[in-house]
Amino acid sequence: MKVLIIGTGYVGINTGVVLAYLGNEVTCLDVNQEKIDLLNQGKSPIWEPHLEEVLSQARQNIRFTSGYDDAQIPETDVIFIAVGTPSLADGNADLRYVRQAAESIAERLGEKFTVIVNKSTVPIGSGNWVEMIIQEQFKHNHNNGEKADFNVVSSPEFLAQGSAMHDSFYPDRIVIGSQCERSITRLRELFAPLTRQDFEPPAGLPRPEDLTQVPLLVCDLTSAEMIKYAANAFLALKISYVNEIGRLASKLGADIQSVARGIGLDKRIGNRFLNAGIGWGGSCFGKDTAALVATARDYNLGMPIIESARAVNYSQRALIVDLLQERLKILKGKHITMLGFSFKPNTDDLRDAPSIDIGRLLVQRGAMVRVHDPIALDNARRLYGDSGLIFCDRVEDALSGAEAIVLVTEWPEYREMDWESIPRVPVIDGRNSLDIERMEALGFSVTGIGR
Ligand code: UGA
Repeated sequence: MKVLIIGTGYVGINTGVVLAYLGNEVTCLDVNQEKIDLLNQGKSPIWEPHLEEVLSQARQNIRFTSGYDDAQIPETDVIFIAVGTPSLADGNADLRYVRQAAESIAERLGEKFTVIVNKSTVPIGSGNWVEMIIQEQFKHNHNNGEKADFNVVSSPEFLAQGSAMHDSFYPDRIVIGSQCERSITRLRELFAPLTRQDFEPPAGLPRPEDLTQVPLLVCDLTSAEMIKYAANAFLALKISYVNEIGRLASKLGADIQSVARGIGLDKRIGNRFLNAGIGWGGSCFGKDTAALVATARDYNLGMPIIESARAVNYSQRALIVDLLQERLKILKGKHITMLGFSFKPNTDDLRDAPSIDIGRLLVQRGAMVRVHDPIALDNARRLYGDSGLIFCDRVEDALSGAEAIVLVTEWPEYREMDWESIPRVPVIDGRNSLDIERMEALGFSVTGIGR
């Protein structure tokens, strides 16, 4: 099929590359010329494992452009809107980029029936809103009362950063929110290689052994939009739940790792997203939980469970600093090393990263903070160059003179580094990812979270 993707952020570029790999004729459009130039050179504007490799395998089926006039909208079968929806100060999502995309599509729609898919995480009810914008803009351009032949569908994205390629080829489910038979049929066909899992896996991304097909759920548009928020909020509260239990565990002398293992073995609970630590960060959980609370507010509804999950999460960041203070007594004038700055491993994304708050608190309390991260330092310097944090390219430099070490992001290299050669200073393991027995045998005293 002929597919257009608008927006080359995480969702857009992954969707485009996967659909091109599966044999569709894909155009990716982004108004940011720099990103388009990079993509035209075969380079990804985001750091994501396997993305460039799959892009090179799909190169003959994908093109990149920054101009709507070059996007061949009248001939396109399916258009994905995958632009950013950042948070406004009141928690609502900022829909200005979605509006711009919808208007630009409307100006160019032809006679052919077009399926327009909202892939961005838009507030519940936005599908109808996008439909209205397109119809109004189209009428405005064709003042003969003609109606455009299109349908807006919601098909939310569930990929996680760092495993985006894997999640896109081998999803747990695909959701189509629409009551238009023509759209459902077209999207079933587009997604068929994924639901049937009958494509040749890309190099380096083998199909999970037990995966033979992927469920496709068809529902109404509003329910599809709600599935995205409800899924993210559930994952977020699962993490806050384990962190709250962890706080009590550490008071009682229990170990949250054992507790989490014990509860996660219950199939009704499941063992994933039960890692206690400094809590969630990233572009999704904070933004989506805030938007869900803001939407409910419009209907005079409180969301006490989700609001509490947020409160627990954000206070977890200060807890790290308190733990460090307990160990060192005085933070002022102390040399602290922070290991990891990205919000999770395998990404250079710093949006809502716990490291930022932790670093800021430490600097406020008078500590000298050296930070290392395997890949996020360019972003860190660009965005937080004047934060008072000292960014070091070599982990040895970050550790030089350290009086305490705080592990913030569980990059595997920190677990595996040569701890023997490091002075035995207090270590706070914010992700419970270090091998405590080994560390203690070496003479380190490690404080985990909820342990
Ligand atoms: C999340 C969801 O997992 C995706 O399904 C969803 O598509 C995406 O948001 C989105 O809405 O776009 P992502 O934010 O990339 O994906 O990363 P996660 O792996 O979910 O991690 C989020 C945060 O939770 C990270 O800071 C991670 O360190 C933290 N986390 C995760 C924990 O603290 N404990 C856990 O057990 C798991």
